[in-house]
Amino acid sequence: MTVLERTIGEQVGPRGRPVYELRGVAKYYAHGHVRALEEVDLTLTEGSFSSVIGPSGCGKTTLLKIMAGLVPPSKGQVVLEGKPVTGTRRDIGMMFQQATLFPWRSTLENIVLPIEIRDGKASAKAKHDEARALLKLVGLEGFENAMPSELSGGMAQRAAICRMLITQPAVLLLDEPFSALDELARDFMNMELQRICMERSATAFLVTHSIPEAVILSDIVYVMSPRPGRFVEAIHIDLPRPRSLDMMTEPKFGSYVKRIRAQLDKGAFL
Ligand SMILES: Nc1ncnc2c1ncn2[C@@H]1O[C@H](COP(=O)(O)OP(=O)(O)OP(=O)(O)O)[C@@H](O)[C@H]1O
Ligand SMILES: [Mg+2]
Repeated sequence: MTVLERTIGEQVGPRGRPVYELRGVAKYYAHGHVRALEEVDLTLTEGSFSSVIGPSGCGKTTLLKIMAGLVPPSKGQVVLEGKPVTGTRRDIGMMFQQATLFPWRSTLENIVLPIEIRDGKASAKAKHDEARALLKLVGLEGFENAMPSELSGGMAQRAAICRMLITQPAVLLLDEPFSALDELARDFMNMELQRICMERSATAFLVTHSIPEAVILSDIVYVMSPRPGRFVEAIHIDLPRPRSLDMMTEPKFGSYVKRIRAQLDKGAFL
């Protein structure tokens, strides 16, 4: 199946088929002295967009790394598509705060890098057309030969999105992917992210510090307590899709923001 065939998927809402399941996941560092995460249960359904928001150091990145198979949990199970996650997998895509493109490789060469690492140079070359199609999808058509130093921060993050999508992951794990961008670029990229997720029927899980960002993008927002992180509330966001930035001025949007803020403030004084 090509990238473009995957884009014509049926949009499955938050009540769709469960794809990702976490049961009783905990993580302890430093021989148990640092309890980063405690008893996290989570189900992500196909095509849903969920966010986690919580204070700095509460264990969000740890959670994402466990979900991606980069770090083993101290307790509990992580299952994706019925199979336990025991290491990195082809069906999981991950994106971090910084784009981390290799400066000596062109944009196109950066995008096909995961294929090159996994399957070798010839397979990566065979993916060039797909990489170009992805560049078009994120609005970077014509930039395949540009070097990372010639891209703006937002453009570099778009290239990083392409690099994440080239392996056709079913699940996208996003750790504050646009937090290094200015507010305008960030709003724009969030709407782009929504479009890409909807077009590809991707299941997405986003870590963010921004309450409005969580609300505008998500079907469900999970609020995390201070460390050891656990979910203290799951808020279903009942706003129609596709979402647009002007929804941020609606009273309903404001009431979601207020509710999440109150929950976070409660945690701050625990
Ligand atoms: N490899 C590690 N070894 C020891 N402690 C760690 C390690 N990684 C994270 N921690 C600790 O676990 C806790 C959670 O860290 P984590 O990076 O998951 O937080 P976070 O919620 O992503 O924070 P932020 O919002 O600042 O990104 C912190 O107290 C951190 O110091
Ligand atoms: Mg983090």
